[in-house]
Amino acid sequence: MKKTVIKGTGRYLASRLVTNEDLTKLMDTSDEWIQKRTGIKQRFWIQEDEKIGVSDLGLEASKIALKRAKWSPDDIDLIIFGTLSPDMHFPGSGCLLQHKLGLEKTPAFDIRQQCSAFLYGLTMADAFICSGHANRILFVGAEIHSTALVKETRGRDVSVIFGDGAGAVCLEGVDTDQPVGILSSVLHSQGELATSLMMAVPASNITEDDIRQGRHNPFMDGRNVFKTAVRRLPEVANDALAKAELSVDDIDLVILHQANLRINQAVQQSMKLPDDKIFNNIQRYGNMTAASIPVALDEAIEKNIVKKGSTLLFLGLGAGVTWGGVIYKHS
Ligand code: UT7
Repeated sequence: MKKTVIKGTGRYLASRLVTNEDLTKLMDTSDEWIQKRTGIKQRFWIQEDEKIGVSDLGLEASKIALKRAKWSPDDIDLIIFGTLSPDMHFPGSGCLLQHKLGLEKTPAFDIRQQCSAFLYGLTMADAFICSGHANRILFVGAEIHSTALVKETRGRDVSVIFGDGAGAVCLEGVDTDQPVGILSSVLHSQGELATSLMMAVPASNITEDDIRQGRHNPFMDGRNVFKTAVRRLPEVANDALAKAELSVDDIDLVILHQANLRINQAVQQSMKLPDDKIFNNIQRYGNMTAASIPVALDEAIEKNIVKKGSTLLFLGLGAGVTWGGVIYKHS
């Protein structure tokens, strides 16, 4: 029976370190407010004059993941690219990455699942692999938020939170009866809450009024998204556990999307997880949307917190709203 396992991971962060103190020079905010409300101490942004897109960040993360998986680009059957900040409206950044990897015909597509892109991406990869459509899939989550943020007081509720970076994961189908790889997955969306977190400008027919009204800047009803996350994430965790016929005690590490340390602490409390069963790095990177979970996974593997045999629970919720949970046993 085919199981989808992770063969290699990689991460790549934008090059400009931006501390909370740096932000106080741009807007009315404070290190104390940002840390208390979000846990974030710093984030990385691309350089102001840097003309790069998410496919460039994704390429660097992919090179590392490919090397660790011992794959060459030619081994890839399919690329799934998660981003809300693509290089251009169309074509998707997956196609740009495909070309940058030196590939000629390998299929590639983007998914628009924002903070839950990793959950949707893993699930789609698993479906492609189990149905025999592809056996080696590169998932990339990458974001460049900094260029769309309003770096003034009027945009401070959003702009202090987000960072730029990329994470990549090489996923492969293996034939085994062992309980390894993706063990269960549960996905949801609730379009009713679409306006809670959005960039409202349409992809076509952009008017001058859209620009004047700032509809090209991200908008977030932070409190509503916060409340939804704290309710939905423990719920989907339980559903994913039930589907895998596991209990929370069987999980070695929960890797949540890094949106707000307080959300993760609330989920930790609700699930009664000890500190060593949850991984957070939002303090150093801020919220990198589609890149957050793969970057966290890469770090957890590098720090040997995730080892062969570790059972992981990935959880995330974001714009859409979309959310999901995936249980994975590392081999
Ligand atoms: O990853 C995608 C999903 N996104 C999320 O999950 C984000 C979820 N939401 C959040 O993380 C939090 O709601 C925020 C961090 C965005 C905001 O924290 P909050 O505790 O919900 O604060 P708030 O929006 O209720 O604002 C409290 C006060 C307001 O002032 P008044 O009205 O009480 O005078 C804001 O104007 O804090 C003010 N404020 C700030 N002050 C200093 C908002 N942003 C800032 C800031 N610096 N950067």
